[in-house]
Parts: sequence; C-alpha cells; structure tokens
Amino acid sequence: MLANLIFSFGSPVWTGIIISLLLCGITRALKLLLAANKLRSKPQSTNNEARSKTEYGPDPLGFGAIVTFQGLPLSQKPDWPRYWKPGKFQMTMALRKLDINNWFNYDELFDDEHTKKLAMARSEDSKDYVDYLDGIDDAVLELLDTVVAYVTKRFPGIFRADKNYVYIDHLQEKYRIREPFDFHPLTVVGLLVMDDVYYLTAIRRRGAFLACPSGWRLQQRIGWQLHQIHDPVPLWKEKLRKSMERFFLNLHPSKAIQRNNLVIQPVGDIFQIVPFESNPKCSSIDQVHIRTELQSLTRLPRSQAIIFTVRTYLTPVTILREEPAQLEALWDHIRHFPPDVADYKCRHLWGDVFEEFCRDVLRKNDPHIGNAEEKVEIAKRGGCPLESK
Ligand code: HEM
Repeated sequence: MLANLIFSFGSPVWTGIIISLLLCGITRALKLLLAANKLRSKPQSTNNEARSKTEYGPDPLGFGAIVTFQGLPLSQKPDWPRYWKPGKFQMTMALRKLDINNWFNYDELFDDEHTKKLAMARSEDSKDYVDYLDGIDDAVLELLDTVVAYVTKRFPGIFRADKNYVYIDHLQEKYRIREPFDFHPLTVVGLLVMDDVYYLTAIRRRGAFLACPSGWRLQQRIGWQLHQIHDPVPLWKEKLRKSMERFFLNLHPSKAIQRNNLVIQPVGDIFQIVPFESNPKCSSIDQVHIRTELQSLTRLPRSQAIIFTVRTYLTPVTILREEPAQLEALWDHIRHFPPDVADYKCRHLWGDVFEEFCRDVLRKNDPHIGNAEEKVEIAKRGGCPLESK
C-alpha cells in the first residue's frame, strides 16, 4: 500500500518529498517513544519513596534484626563455603533466604583486597573494573546509603560515618557519601565490602564493581540482559530461565536471597578476565583451585533496583587433603557432571590431575558415597559415611 501511495504520484520529485516526510514522521515517532521509555525507566524518587513507605513498612530490608559484631572480624580466616553435594547433578536455583547478619562478611583478606580495589578504582583503565551506565542516579545513592547503614551498624569496629563521610579508621581512609563525591557512589560501595557488586534495573546489568571476574571482562557485558549472560550455561534455558524470570519479578525487599556457585579453575588467580578454557591443561594438582561464590540478591525498596553481590573465595584444592569427606563428596559431584556441563566447567583441563589426587589421598579408585538416602544425610552433615564406620 505504501508503495502504491508513493508511486501513484508518478513524479520522482513527489516520491522524494513523500519519502522524506515519512522518514521525518518515523524518526519523530521513534524519538517520542524513546523519551517516554526514558521517563518510565528514570527512578521517580518522590513516587518511589511514598510507595516504599506504604508498601514495604518502616524497615523494608529488615535492618532492625542486625546484631552488632563484637570485636574485629579482620583476624578471622576466610570461612569459604563447602556446599557441593555428591550424587546426581541437579540444575536448580538453590536459593535460600538471606540472614541479614550474613549479607556482608569480613576476614583477614579484607585489607589486602581493599588495597587492590583502591588501585583498580584509581587506575587509568578503572572502567575495566568499575563502571556505571546511569551517572549518579537515585538508585546508586540509595545503594550507598543502604550499605553504609549496614556496615556501620553491623561492623562498628571497622566502619563509622557522619553526615558527609564514611571512615575506615584502621586504614586511615575516608570516603565522601554526599556530593561532591570523591569516587562514584558504586565505587565507594565496592571499597566498603569484600564482594563484587552488580546493579541491575529491568534485569539488565547497569553497573558493577568487578574485582574478581570469572573469565570475562566488565566492558564486554555491561548493559546485558540476564538471559544473554546465562545463555551459554548448559541446562539454563531448559531448567532455570522461567523460574529465574519469575523470581526477579517477585523479588521483594524483605525477601533477599543467598545462593552459592562452584567453579573449579585451572589457575590460581582470583582475577580472571580470559575465559578459563584458554588455559593449558593442568600438569599438577597445585594449579587446580576451588572458586566458591557466596551470592546475594536484594531489591532496594525506593528505587526498585536489584543488587547482586558475589563474595569470591579461592582455595587450592590440595587443602582438601585435610578434609577427606569433603574431597570424596566433591569427587563424586564432579564425576556426575553431564557431558555439556563438564565441558562448560573445563573438566578436560583439570579433571585428570584431580582424579589422580583423589585416588592418591583417598586410596581408592572411585568415590563410594553410599545410597541416595545416605547422600542426603551426608550433604546435610558435610561428612562421609565411610568415615564413621
Ligand atoms: C536467581 C538468580 C541467579 C541464578 C539462579 C543464577 C544461576 C547461574 C548459574 C547456574 C550459572 C552457571 C555457573 C557455573 O556452573 O559455573 C551462572 C553463571 C553466571 N551468572 Fe548467574 N544466576 C543468577 C543471577 C545472576 C545475576 C543477577 C548475574 C549478574 C548480573 C549473574 C551473572 C552470571 C555470570 C556472569 C555467569 C557466568 C556466565 C558465563 O560462564 O559466561 N547471575 N548463573
């Protein structure tokens, strides 16, 4: 019909005029659509504040339940999670309710990791570590206020704040928490916690402080939607996509969650911007490391932004020499990877030395973890039935 309309005028001059008018119209309509979209996605602080108070009550994140940590946690050893289970590989979301006293944790690695993060934030290529697509908006200000309120209440031995600054006294550092900022508020958040911090709106990653990447670069993936990030994960589309999308729609400020993630990596660095599969095959068990992540997801009540935190622990697998029950459970877990999961997790790079290590330490050719009921019991206890016999 469009072609008929254009060509019925016959003359090429008329055709040109009509095409220009149509193009102008389309561009204008697109501009209006974009502007409307922008308005919709821009945090409307006044509306949201009112909504947050009426909808979520006076303490939406449950900070009233925060218990002050007695003393200084900075001499504690990292309490890395050993949560793997023997038996059939299960692809589940594995979410549990967040205990608010377990949102951010600190240990003896804090000072060192904080110093490295500070160098990242100050470096010329700081955008490789921390970037934020929306300038300084309401959501990131809400995030900073929330994290400052949390750390000063839970860990007053490390942090204190006044109207303008948050202080880390033992490092003789202070950061502005009001404008004019000395760092972007997301950077300040990243410097206060041991976790990587991601900020998302409408399930798109809008910003992150990424000090422990696991095989990719921040600039490659900033602005991506969650399904784009997860598409390469085997079984994700079939098993997780629907429930994850439902979960994000229903995430309520008082229902923050935690989950774990496990990677066995063929190198000993926590900062990995090249894909794991580009590493050579391991020739020694000393190269194989367990990367366990403790993740949390929280919706901020006022801006509705979602905050994803990832605390990464990296441990040489040889430490499990001292924990044979855990080693056997991990051995069994890894043996049960379906082939595509094994490929994704690069078992071809570290699997052989790991098998040899398990056989050597446990003095058997295969894991014998017991029957299905026993496996559930073992997972609950974190132990191995053969040990107690
Ligand atoms: C309910 C929430 C979520 C669930 C259940 C989930 C689940 C998973 C799973 C099962 C993997 C594969 C891990 C592996 O086997 O090594 C994965 C990978 C990943 N996830 Fe998530 N995830 C969630 C939220 C998020 C969020 C909010 C982000 C960031 C904005 C994120 C970023 C990633 C990244 C970067 C990877 C690595 C992907 C790759 O290998 O290229 N995830 N996730």
